[in-house]
Amino acid sequence: MLPKTTQTLLSAIVQGLKLASDKWMLVLGIETTCDETAAAVIERRADGSGRILSNIVRSQTEEHIPFGGVVPEIAARAHVDALDGIVASAMKEAGLRFPQLSGVAAAAGPGLIGGVIVGLTTAKAIAMVHETPLIAVNHLEAHALTPRLTCALAFPYCLFLASGGHTQIVAVLGVGEYVRLGTTVDDAMGEAFDKVAKMLSLPYPGGPQVERAALGGDPKRFTFPRPMLGRADANFSLSGLKTAVRNEASRLGTLEPQDVSDLCAGFQAAVLESTADRLGVGLRMFHEQFGPPRALVAAGGVAANQAIRGALQQVASRAETTLIIPPPALCTDNGAMIAWAGAERLALGMIDTMEAPPRARWRLDENATAPPGFANTRAGF
Ligand code: KG4
Ligand code: ZN
Repeated sequence: MLPKTTQTLLSAIVQGLKLASDKWMLVLGIETTCDETAAAVIERRADGSGRILSNIVRSQTEEHIPFGGVVPEIAARAHVDALDGIVASAMKEAGLRFPQLSGVAAAAGPGLIGGVIVGLTTAKAIAMVHETPLIAVNHLEAHALTPRLTCALAFPYCLFLASGGHTQIVAVLGVGEYVRLGTTVDDAMGEAFDKVAKMLSLPYPGGPQVERAALGGDPKRFTFPRPMLGRADANFSLSGLKTAVRNEASRLGTLEPQDVSDLCAGFQAAVLESTADRLGVGLRMFHEQFGPPRALVAAGGVAANQAIRGALQQVASRAETTLIIPPPALCTDNGAMIAWAGAERLALGMIDTMEAPPRARWRLDENATAPPGFANTRAGF
């Protein structure tokens, strides 16, 4: 039996050799930060282009519906139950065995810590047993790099990420080079949609329900605030708007379907106006600091909203840039984006050790400081 230090050294040499010979790569990616258990295998070619060989996602929505939101403990247990099978399916569909992988990537945060531990530990076990490099990926970075997989987008570009846990405007300058231009100071955008749906007795997840109800509603019946409108920074705030909806709903007492539709339409109109304004400022900041972006990229579940897509299109046109929204399955949480971010890092020799920690919070631009008065905890602060 070799001493532990020698074993570690040999393992690092083996990994280094794999890395050097792996311009062409096959990477397994694991995603467990919220309520999707996902695994995927991607191929990254020497020219930097990519292809998805498998992409398996198991949503836990059914388990969380009775509680009207994601319950961390239930999520973690469901990841434990499902992950091995999902990884095996992803490998089988890709027609690969573990020793053929160039690397294994897992989302190491930010997210619900129980789930993050499940995914990262599984990736570490695979990496250790098969002496394959481990890449501990930031979940936000994976969203940010997705358009490079889907349409080989070149740097720099501007990302608008709006999901149940995050609302951010990020300048994506290179792999590992991100500047956050704006974030929410309280609720995430998807979270606000979900909470509004809940207070109007619409089922979880609320975003699609609110969008549907808004179609038949009058957006002008209620006057809701347009949060942060006209401010010089590019931050978002959604809790005041959410409270305004709650106040109107309780004032009305019993809600008829038309009331629900009008409240949803009013809420969504306020979100649209605020988003267009905030993104306008974000794109201006981008331009001033980094020159013209190659595109405005939208990601996260909220980007599925047709009305929001329309507003983003207008913002992009006004800023004389192109709007890119990856296909829905790659906009929401998935394993392919983690595998791809892993491959991008691996290609640059950015690998991690077995000590890589699971992280509930993990900012993309770690050196920035939190502005005073920020209450947000889910988006990175
Ligand atoms: O990215 P995602 O699938 O998961 C994470 O949160 O990471 O985003 C889910 C969020 C939920 O809050 C959901 O209500 C919201 O995205 N969402 C929508 C729509 N579809 C999903 N929000 C507004 N309009 C939609 N059509
Ligand atoms: Zn996400």
